[in-house]
Amino acid sequence: MRAALSRGFWIALITVGFMSFVGLLSALAIDPPHNASFGVRCNSCHTIHNAPGGSLTRDASNANLCLSCHTSGGLANAVPFTDSMQASPGVGGTSHAWNATMPTLSDPSNAYGLRNTNDLSNVALKAKLQNYNNVITCSVCHNQHSQRKEPWDPYSSSTYTAGETKDRHFQRIDDQYNQMCEDCHYYRAMSYSQASDPSLANGTTIFSHPIGEIFNAQGYDSTAPLDANGVAQTDPQGNNRYAGDVDGNPANNMVLDNSADGTSNPGKVRCLSCHRIHYVDSNSLTNSTDIK
Ligand code: HEC
Ligand code: HEC
Ligand code: HEC
Ligand code: HEC
Ligand code: HEC
Repeated sequence: MRAALSRGFWIALITVGFMSFVGLLSALAIDPPHNASFGVRCNSCHTIHNAPGGSLTRDASNANLCLSCHTSGGLANAVPFTDSMQASPGVGGTSHAWNATMPTLSDPSNAYGLRNTNDLSNVALKAKLQNYNNVITCSVCHNQHSQRKEPWDPYSSSTYTAGETKDRHFQRIDDQYNQMCEDCHYYRAMSYSQASDPSLANGTTIFSHPIGEIFNAQGYDSTAPLDANGVAQTDPQGNNRYAGDVDGNPANNMVLDNSADGTSNPGKVRCLSCHRIHYVDSNSLTNSTDIK
C-alpha cells in the first residue's frame, strides 16, 4: 500500500462523493464497460471510509477486487477468472500469472527472460509495479479506468473516444507492438541477428524465437502465416496483419503487428503472434482456441 495518497486522489474522491449526491457520477467518464452502462460505479471498487486496499479500494488484494465481479455468476460473468487459472509453464494453467514476483536482478539467464523492475523503460508500467512491490497483478497491466491505450487485439476499435470506447481491454500502456510484454520480458525480445549471433552463446544466455522481424524476411516462411491448426489466414483489413479466418476460429490466428500506421511496415512477428494472455488451452499460453 502506498504511504501517502496524492492530493489529486483526494480531490477526485471528494468530488465523486459530492457528485454522487447530485447523481452526476457519469460526468467523470470512466470508460465502459467499467461504468454505469454496465452497472459499475466508482463505489463498486472504491470506498471512502475504512478501505482495506490501496487507492481506497474495497479489497486488500487487487486481483481479488477484480475477481469479485470477474467470476462465474458475477457482473463480469462473460470474462471470468479463478486463481487456479494462473499458468505454471510445463505444469498447467490457462492464463498469464497475476501474482508472480519480478526478479531481483536483471540477467539474460532468467528462465522467463524477465528483468528487474528498476530497469523497465516505460515509466507508467514501472511505477505501477513499484506500487505493488514488484509483484505483477491485474492493475499493473490494466488501467481499469481507461480504454485510451492501444491493445494488440486486431478486433478492438482502432480509435479511442473517451466514455464510449469499450473494447480496448483497459491497457496500462500501449501494447500494439507488445511493448508491454517486451518491457518486462526484456531478454525474450530477441532480433534475428541476436538469436543467430554465436558470440552470445556463452552458456548462460537463453535464446528465444526472434520477434520484431518481417514475416518471411529470411525466406524460411510461407508468404502469409497459417493459423495454429495449419489453415490459411486472410488479410481483410489490408494491413498485413493476416487477422482473417478461413476456418471460422479467430482465436487461433497467428496475427502480425499493425503496419497501417506506417512505423512498422509490413507486419512483424510479436509475442502475441504466438501467445495469448488469457483463456488459452496451453500452459505456456501459446495461441490456440479461446477457452473462455
Ligand atoms: C473496476 C474497478 C474500479 C472502478 C469502477 C473505479 N476504480 Fe478507481 N481504482 C481502481 C483500482 C484497482 C485502483 C488502484 C490501482 C490503480 O492505481 O490503477 C484505482 C485507483 C484510483 C485512483 C488513484 C490512482 C489514479 O488512477 O490516479 C483514483 C483517483 C480513482 N481510482 C478514482 C476513481 C473514480 C473517481 C472512479 C469513478 C468515476 C473510479 N476510480 C472507478 C479501481 C476502480
Ligand atoms: C501480464 C499482464 C496482464 C495481467 C497480469 C493481466 N492481464 Fe488481462 N490482459 C492483458 C492483455 C495484454 C490483454 C489484451 C490482449 C490482446 O490485446 O489481445 C488482456 C485482456 C484482458 C481481458 C479481456 C479478455 C477477452 O478475451 O476479452 C480481461 C477481462 C482481462 N484482461 C482481465 C484481467 C484480470 C481480471 C486480471 C487479473 C486477475 C488480468 N487481466 C491480469 C494483460 C494482463
Ligand atoms: C464491479 C464489477 C467489476 C469489477 C470489480 C471489475 N470489473 Fe472488469 N468488467 C466488469 C464488467 C461488467 C465487464 C464487461 C463484461 C462483459 O463483457 O460482459 C468488465 C470487463 C473488463 C475488461 C474487458 C474490457 C474490454 O475492453 O474488453 C477488462 C480488461 C477488465 N474488466 C479488467 C478489470 C480489472 C483489471 C479489474 C480489477 C482492477 C476489474 N476489471 C474489476 C466489471 C467489473
Ligand atoms: C509487468 C511485467 C510483465 C508483463 C507486462 C508481462 N509479463 Fe509475462 N510474466 C511476468 C512474470 C513475473 C511471470 C511469472 C514468472 C514466474 O512464474 O516466476 C510471467 C510469466 C509469463 C509466461 C509463462 C506463463 C506464466 O504465466 O507463468 C508467459 C508465456 C508470459 N509471461 C508471456 C507474456 C506476454 C506474451 C506478455 C505480453 C502480453 C507478458 N508476458 C507481459 C511478468 C510480465
Ligand atoms: C514463434 C512463436 C513464439 C513467439 C514469437 C514467442 N513465443 Fe514464447 N513460447 C512459444 C512456445 C511454443 C512456447 C512453449 C515452449 C515449450 O513448451 O517448451 C513459449 C514459451 C514461452 C514462455 C514460458 C517459458 C518457457 O520457456 O516455456 C515465456 C515466458 C514466453 N514464451 C514469453 C515470450 C515473450 C515475452 C515473447 C515476445 C518477446 C515470446 N514468448 C514470443 C512461442 C513463441
